[in-house]
Amino acid sequence: QQDTRLARIASAIRVIPDFPKPGILFQDITTLLLDTKAFKDTVDLFVERYRDQNINVVAGVEARGFIFGPPIALAIGAKFVPMRKPNKLPGEVISEEYSLEYGTDKMEMHVGAVQPGERALIIDDLIATGGTLGAAIKLLERVGVHVVECACVIELPELKDLNNYIPMTITWCIEKL
Ligand code: PRP
Repeated sequence: QQDTRLARIASAIRVIPDFPKPGILFQDITTLLLDTKAFKDTVDLFVERYRDQNINVVAGVEARGFIFGPPIALAIGAKFVPMRKPNKLPGEVISEEYSLEYGTDKMEMHVGAVQPGERALIIDDLIATGGTLGAAIKLLERVGVHVVECACVIELPELKDLNNYIPMTITWCIEKL
């Protein structure tokens, strides 16, 4: 059953060449969301893996972690915490800078959204270099949260060696490309 689900999920993801820049093959999960079975199967695969791990926090990374994170959080009985781009959250924030191919970016989380000792799962649609998830891990660990795992729908393994922070043992992805 698992294999049929994986194949359907993989084929529901649309690949768009040269977006947002020439040379980039963009993995478009919006077509996965149009396939009600593939979308549900995706959420179910995460829920099956995480429901018995005493996770209290699902942290979703902007933007597509906001799509997959909330249904997973509801199903496993965890709260949902958005990890946002800079200057989007209205309350007091803590932030973590991270490097991109060119320059740096910042990720922010509301102060008080999580408590020391809580157990978190971090969700995004895709891991490439791991810079984004690395920042999310650091942010949560700085406030004393235990990151159980990071989970994505898609992993781009050829970019994995660019990753200089994430221990890959704590990432799990449905689809490796
Ligand atoms: C994409 C993707 C991840 C990140 C992965 O987001 O959704 O969040 O890149 O890349 P990394 O592993 O090399 O850090 P994007 O930068 O396109 O931002 P968006 O979600 O706001 O579109």
